[in-house]
Amino acid sequence: MSVVRLPEGFFLGAAMSGAQTEGAYAVGGKLESLWDTWSDLDIGSFTNKVGSYVGNDFYHCYEADIDLLKGLGLTSFRTSIQWSRLLDRDGQVNPEGAAFYHRLFAYARKAGLEPFVTLYHFDMPTYLYRRGGWESRDVVEAYASYARKAFAEFGQEVRYWFTFNEPIVEPENRYLTGEWYPHVRDFQRCRTCQYDISLAHSLGVWEYRRAKEAGVVRADSRIGLVSSFAPAYTRDDPSEADLAALRMSDGISNRWWLDLVTKGSLPEDVMDEFASTGVELGIRPGDDEILSRGVVDWLGCNYYQPNRVQAPARPTGDDGQPIFADPYVWPDRVMNESRGWEIYPKGLYDFGLKIRDEYPDLEWYVSENGIGIEGEDANRGADGLIADDYRVDFVAGHLAWLVRAVSEGSRCRGYHYWAVIDNWSWNHAFKNRYGFVEVDLAHGYERRPKASAAWLRDVTRTREFEWEGAE
Ligand code: BG6
Repeated sequence: MSVVRLPEGFFLGAAMSGAQTEGAYAVGGKLESLWDTWSDLDIGSFTNKVGSYVGNDFYHCYEADIDLLKGLGLTSFRTSIQWSRLLDRDGQVNPEGAAFYHRLFAYARKAGLEPFVTLYHFDMPTYLYRRGGWESRDVVEAYASYARKAFAEFGQEVRYWFTFNEPIVEPENRYLTGEWYPHVRDFQRCRTCQYDISLAHSLGVWEYRRAKEAGVVRADSRIGLVSSFAPAYTRDDPSEADLAALRMSDGISNRWWLDLVTKGSLPEDVMDEFASTGVELGIRPGDDEILSRGVVDWLGCNYYQPNRVQAPARPTGDDGQPIFADPYVWPDRVMNESRGWEIYPKGLYDFGLKIRDEYPDLEWYVSENGIGIEGEDANRGADGLIADDYRVDFVAGHLAWLVRAVSEGSRCRGYHYWAVIDNWSWNHAFKNRYGFVEVDLAHGYERRPKASAAWLRDVTRTREFEWEGAE
């Protein structure tokens, strides 16, 4: 057993998103997002038929929730503005939507919680999807205009801005695996969305820089990107083909964004590989200039699981789509069976050292990390609390490896847990619960701390914790 001490100035906070918490889907002039549209079209796709409509009711109970987070000793929280709440169909600010976020940021500040604000978290407004969504350059332009309006509206209230959350996930889930509406399975359309989002990100950063020059955003503010960096691994005795699969997998998911936010360009080897397999991204003259503006001040890293890959059995699937890597099942893996995700805390350390070595100027923080478990009710003790030791083990292990990376020179500044209060997990709705605080759907979405909340309170108070893991 060892004691892990948090580094000086290292912050601990909560992560959430607008679409997964706010609910109030048709209140105050909010427009439909694709989540509302999919819920209307096919509610059976959502666990227990719980659609997007209520979130965890944060719109109505944000004050009590902020008080809860403060009571746990956290000092920051991350959420997203919903494009569909902030702007109307003509792209103008919807005063009622803006008023909600003004109230939220003011209340959080008063409580001593610094808001970290993401502009886009998988929540395409439906009217823009109907104009082509991320396959349309008009929507890329519309995003830049949305970002400009958000900076103008909240520029004096927000210090930490992020253009996108996990920009690879929406293209892949909507256009490659087809898991999310509109259920497309098309490699080229997926990568076109990925490319267009890279342009939108870069235009968003440019809008921010101009707003800063004009004094529209705070002088002490910064801009970043939040991405899911799943460190990539292959088998211990890799073949050349395994290594090629590893390079391409890492290239598409990690280097793509790391190069964009540090160099203002996209990795050439990935672009060449796409070109050689006939994938067309719709590149236009002048795009390089736009991408060169995508360099950020720092980075948010969401980490849940590593990405283990090996050489693909076939270069294309039955549907003719290119396959660059197959999944590799590591014989020693430990699984979170509820989510089907491997638990590998050391991945944060490996990622931290990769950043230190390959992008030494880049500051970063863990913008999401958490464990979602199904059927937690079965763990309720005689005291009525959910006994969730596994959550304590999970967070302690990840924090311990992260602190080790910091002690070895990685410039990681803090950690936000996803999601301190149970929230709505897209099509999995409330199946897997992430919170240190339970949301009781059967009793008016009442909040109740789980047993792990006392541990978290202790860590924020003492700034240290005991850990049984590897020395
Ligand atoms: C991250 C997302 O990928 O993972 C969150 O940014 C998401 O929006 C979280 O909720 C956990 O995944 P899930 O699907 O279990 O909710």
